[in-house]
Amino acid sequence: MTTTALILAAGKGTRMRSSLPKVLHPLCGWPMTRWVMEAAKGAGAAPVVVVGHQAERVRAALGDGAGYALQAEQKGTGHAVLCAADALPRAGVLLVLAGDTPLVRPETLRALLDGHGDALCTVLTAMLEPHEVPASAYGRLVRDAEGRAQRVVEAANATPPERLVREYNSGIYAFDAAWLIDEVLPALQPHPPKGELYLTDAVEAAAARGRLQAVCHPDADELMGVNDRAALSVAEAALRARINQAWMLAGVTLRDPGSAYVDAGVRLSPDVTLGPGVVLSGACVLEEGVTVGAHAVLTDTVVRAGATIKPGTVCEGAEVGPEATVGPMARLREGTVLGRKVKVGNFVETKKARLDDGVKASHLSYLGDTHVGADTNIGAGTITCNYDGFGKHHTEIGAGVFVGSNAALVAPVTVGHGALIAAGSVITTDVPDDALALGRGRQRNLPDRAAELRARFAERAGKVPR
Ligand code: UD1
Ligand code: CA
Repeated sequence: MTTTALILAAGKGTRMRSSLPKVLHPLCGWPMTRWVMEAAKGAGAAPVVVVGHQAERVRAALGDGAGYALQAEQKGTGHAVLCAADALPRAGVLLVLAGDTPLVRPETLRALLDGHGDALCTVLTAMLEPHEVPASAYGRLVRDAEGRAQRVVEAANATPPERLVREYNSGIYAFDAAWLIDEVLPALQPHPPKGELYLTDAVEAAAARGRLQAVCHPDADELMGVNDRAALSVAEAALRARINQAWMLAGVTLRDPGSAYVDAGVRLSPDVTLGPGVVLSGACVLEEGVTVGAHAVLTDTVVRAGATIKPGTVCEGAEVGPEATVGPMARLREGTVLGRKVKVGNFVETKKARLDDGVKASHLSYLGDTHVGADTNIGAGTITCNYDGFGKHHTEIGAGVFVGSNAALVAPVTVGHGALIAAGSVITTDVPDDALALGRGRQRNLPDRAAELRARFAERAGKVPR
């Protein structure tokens, strides 16, 4: 029988001061609550998420890896569980988590479930550092003189001595499902000032039956609740460090792990090397031996084995072929596909461009809506003029073509295999295979004209000609 993990994510997250629901604020590329979902799954539990504030948006962002329940009005954490009751199995243990504790690890949840035994409630707690105590908003765990856990009191409702308690409620619990759903939830009473139903009251109910366990987790950082953007940045840094650590142990060199940003959805291979300040977002895949230079930013980009991305390059939705080199400071946009050993150099921009094996575009070009055949050389400053003010048009360039510097290829246009485009040409009609295309004025040399002009200008300026 699989354990259900109920994840509470219906709140607005007022303290974020955001139009985006708190539980969707991204952390290393995943919405916050996705981390909680994955931790639950990693512990062998099936996630059910309670949604409410912007329910549809939250559901769409978290995807179909979870079941969902609706809490139409947000009347507290106890009310959230009540709203999901019909969707929950009553047999066995129910894990309940807050959607805003993204650092919790699967092993921690597994240990919580394994240690639950026949308790009615096991609450996971941690210790505040002494300096954190005065300002902390966490509910505190109150123990009696013998140290037995009694109840959780919210910081706002705590007496001054209770507020000094360092042990706090992480908002993560294992419950006897039938007891929680059939006995506790129906009896919850609203709390002032907002009349909310607190799930924390279940802790006291279990203590009253002598079947409460409070397990204090040694790593408080892992159980942090994210309520505002300051905490969000702390959580992001922790997850980033975790991701980087895991990749280093898997054979990736991070020359400066402190400045490398690798999203959760990125896949790396052994002997990938990332320079300082590299940002890999979305669903990037970097195959074996890929090197990414300093401050390159890659989003949803696939880089095949042995390719090199040089510093300052920006790629979005591109595919870079094996042993290709890109940059420094190149920009590959969506729909760019580079073949084997392609070279794209500095200040080259590509969009919807397929460059077959061995193509070189080494400097200062725009290649958009184009297919370039194998081993073609694109000279510096070449522009595919793909836009006529109304629509985008295709430029077809054959294999083994030599495009001279500063050529403008006015689309739609086709350049045949083996053709040669003279530098500075404006190509407006198709070029046959192996033809030389000259699309510019013929050069004239006027003997001595430069010297004559210089003398005239000097005289006008009152200077001696050189
Ligand atoms: C809660 C606990 C507190 C604990 C802390 C741990 C209660 C009453 N308090 O406080 O003891 O120390 O978590 O981080 O449980 N939510 C809903 N529906 C609601 C209200 C909240 O789904 O009606 C969800 C939120 O989206 C959030 C989670 O429950 O993901 C926790 O809510 P939040 O308002 O952050 O509770 P805290 O004040 O942090
Ligand atoms: Ca919280």
